[in-house]
Order: sequence, then C-alpha cells, then structure tokens
Amino acid sequence: MPRTITIAGNWKMNKTATEAAELAKPIIQAVANQSEITVVVCPPYTALQTVGGLIANSSVRLGAQNMSDKASGAYTGEISASMLRDLHVTHVILGHSERRAYYGETDEIVNKKTIAALENSLKPILCVGETLAEREASKTFDVIRTQLVGGFKGISAEQAENVIIAYEPVWAIGTGKTATPAMAQEVHAYIRKELTSLYGDTVAQKIRILYGGSMKPDNADALLSETDIDGGLIGGAALTAKDFLALVESGKAASLKKA
Ligand code: 13P
Repeated sequence: MPRTITIAGNWKMNKTATEAAELAKPIIQAVANQSEITVVVCPPYTALQTVGGLIANSSVRLGAQNMSDKASGAYTGEISASMLRDLHVTHVILGHSERRAYYGETDEIVNKKTIAALENSLKPILCVGETLAEREASKTFDVIRTQLVGGFKGISAEQAENVIIAYEPVWAIGTGKTATPAMAQEVHAYIRKELTSLYGDTVAQKIRILYGGSMKPDNADALLSETDIDGGLIGGAALTAKDFLALVESGKAASLKKA
C-alpha cells in the first residue's frame, strides 16, 4: 500500500487567533472533505481552539507545534498531551530544529515527548536535520542517525508506525535554499534504511517521511515525486492560503502518481 501523502503547515509563531481564522477559512473551504491526502495545519497554541472549531467537520487535521513530556502538574507555561487532545489536536510537531537550537531540546527530551504523544494517541511529527556546518563536515548521516536512534528510544514497532518523520535540513529552513530533490531523496532513503535497521522493512515502509525547508509551489512537484518523500512540512508558504493550497494540489498530484 502506498504511503498517504501528508501536507502539513507549520505556522510557527505567526497569526493571532483572529488572523489564524482568516487563514484557515479558505483552506478549509478548498480542501473540504477530500480523502486522497492528509492535510494538517499547525497554528500556535493560542489559535488551536479557534482553528479547531472551524475545521471540525472537514478532513483537515489539527496539529500543535510542541508539547510537554509531562502529564500534568507544576510546570508553568507547559501544555500537556491531554490538553491538546481535548482541543481535537491529532498531530504534534516535536524536536523542530528551532526548539533544539533556541530552547535546548535534546534527543532525550524529544524522545520523552514522542513517547508522551504516542501514549495519548497523538501522531508525533518528529523533526530531524543537519546544520550547514554538519553537512559541510560530511556529518549529515551521523547526525540523522543519532537523532533517529535517540528519538525512537523505547518506542515499539507498533508505536513507530504512528510516528511521522520530517527531514528538515536546518540550512534550508526559511532561507529560500531548498535541498535539491536528489539531495533530499538521498537523506530520506537513508532515514528509511535506519528505520529498517530499527524496526524491519515492513514497518519502515509504512512510516511517512516529510521534507521541510523552503518547500514552495514551484519546487514541490519535483520533491514530492521522489520515492521516499511522502509529503511536506511547510513554514513560510503555509502562511498564505494560495501557496498552501497549491502545495495541497501538488500533494494530490504526487499521490495519484505514486498510487
Ligand atoms: P520554511 O518552509 O519557511 O523553510 O520552514 C520549514 C519549517 O521549518 C517547517 O517546520
């Protein structure tokens, strides 16, 4: 069975709840109830309830951008998995490079959050990716392997099928520099190989691996046509309905080709 293409928008720290509703409305109207691909929008926490209310009867899924690994208690400023579930959140981005770089998230923390998400039936979108310095020092595969092994520690094969991986080369995020389709495919194939070592071929073939890093309407078709690229995690281009919807169309076209 081919892997369902996922097009996910990471709105990062953009959009008030009011602005988020304005962005979500045309997306919902256009995407409506299609079932060919999975479309996810990840607004900031403060807009989850508003956007969640708007997408309630559509096929668009709601994602958060981060989550605590703790269930509840004295953790000021944190948000738990059950709080997200209560707002009908289905996906959660974990270990984004911005959280690793600016908020000190280590593989160990990302792993704990991934386990907490899975235990609460949320689908983690686990981000991995190398910096420019690491790529230039030929360390890309080592970095990715460490992030994968650390991120999946203690996660069973059955649980692993529910994890979505996002390969986001740090040097391509928000820079306009995209990995070429061949460069991205090379790393995606490597990720699948590592997943095969961890969980065997059947499970590895089921896990979706998204590409993120300056994905735009004009480069999406080429990226999504690669064998191991199963969708996109989109930042900048997810902030306008027109571009995001063009990416949804690219996802549908890729889905037809890969069927
Ligand atoms: P850009 O699409 O803006 O490069 O961001 C990618 C990203 O970080 C998605 O999580």
